Amino acid sequence: MNKKIAIKGGNPLNGEINISGAKNAAVAIIPAALLVDGVCRLENIPNIVDVMVQLDIVRGMGADVKFLTPTIVEIDSRNLDRSDPPFELMRKLRASYYLMGALLSRYHDVEVAMPGGCNFGGVRPIDLHIKGFEALGAETAVKEGGFVCVKAENGLHGKTIFLDVVSVGATMNIMLAATLAEGQTVIENAAKEPHIVDLANFLNAMGANVMGAGTDVIKITGVEKLHGGTYSIIPDQIEAGTYMAAVAATGGSLLIKNIIPKHLECISTKLVEMGCEVTYTDDTVRVTRTGEIHRTNIKTMPYPGFPTDMQPQMAIPLCLAQGASVITEGVWDSRFRYVDELRKMGAEIHVDGKVAVFNGVDRLMGAPVTAYDLRAGAAMIIAGLAAVGDTTISDTRHIERGYDDIVGKLRSVGAIIEYVEVPGEAE
Ligand code: EPZ
Repeated sequence: MNKKIAIKGGNPLNGEINISGAKNAAVAIIPAALLVDGVCRLENIPNIVDVMVQLDIVRGMGADVKFLTPTIVEIDSRNLDRSDPPFELMRKLRASYYLMGALLSRYHDVEVAMPGGCNFGGVRPIDLHIKGFEALGAETAVKEGGFVCVKAENGLHGKTIFLDVVSVGATMNIMLAATLAEGQTVIENAAKEPHIVDLANFLNAMGANVMGAGTDVIKITGVEKLHGGTYSIIPDQIEAGTYMAAVAATGGSLLIKNIIPKHLECISTKLVEMGCEVTYTDDTVRVTRTGEIHRTNIKTMPYPGFPTDMQPQMAIPLCLAQGASVITEGVWDSRFRYVDELRKMGAEIHVDGKVAVFNGVDRLMGAPVTAYDLRAGAAMIIAGLAAVGDTTISDTRHIERGYDDIVGKLRSVGAIIEYVEVPGEAE
């Protein structure tokens, strides 16, 4: 039996949705817990596959992982019994690369499988991560079978590292490696995403000395060890943005709770241009659309610019806008594989390299489509909700990697959406 998501489209969304903890913060903070000499209690853990795999990886290395409630987990890695994480699990997600920085910091020696994850930009390199580790005194070698060995025989020593491309993963991995290194590490041209600040706040709460996260210069002064403590993960900016884009596409009014307004500014600016009303309180945002969708242009950029991880979801209201809109992908080499699926639903889209032009149509029509990656999958759900008729989405495993109960949350606000078992069909 295989699972698909089935949607009957055409219903506006109305009601309230609660946002879960941030995937891209949690997948970095779980490996960071391996640096802690004590018990780490993590709150606001999202129930998503990438987080569960990351927890399985640290469990597989001997960490004691205990859920106290569905969203609170305790990690005690004092008795870690091996330095090499399980290869097969490593290959399941991109964020497994954070094990490199964490284990290098703790053991000065690590061998990992090349990370997996969404494939939308051709090769997803880790050269900047490696350059950072080498600047701190490590030697690296890529071995047969896709393994990377990183070793710092004489320990890690603080240095100034300039990232010539703004990279979220490299910034966080170097932060992890530098946490227990000797002396001060300075990361210049660092990424500024909310999850970078969250990792820094977590590390500092456990006794690290990380300054400047959220700006483009981060200074980490190495400490001897980290102590245990409790930390609550920030709400997921992209999950919130996905529901905001959904209501822009379907119409209606959603109150989205447990958010940080600052993180959503870049998204709401575009939704307002598209004709939505967006109002905030301290920790909620309401998005309402009653009229036509207006055209706009979007260019993705590192934070605080418009997030690439919201690009496919915002494409759906633009498919239905009056006039032509342009999306320019400014982070990945290509992230438009999903447009072929939208064309099956009647969208008019022309792609040339990193630029896609959306000529608005009156309606999308339900169709069988595939979720090629996590955010493309979210876009297929939004398209199905906005379309006339029935849509089925295959390869839903991508969606489950990063969205906590998306089907249940959407049903609670009026969507007609469910999982269906499809006998005998290969996904
Ligand atoms: C993170 O990936 C996110 N993943 C991605 O979200 C997100 O799309 C991306 O940041 C950009 O915001 C996680 O946090 C787990 P990068 P990451 O290093 O860290 C180039 C999602 O949907 N680069 O910031 O892997 C790279 O090719 C996922 O939730 C190098 O050249 O992205 C890209 O053009 C998918 N060399 C740019 O930097 C390197 O060593 C940004 O990549 C590393 C990256």
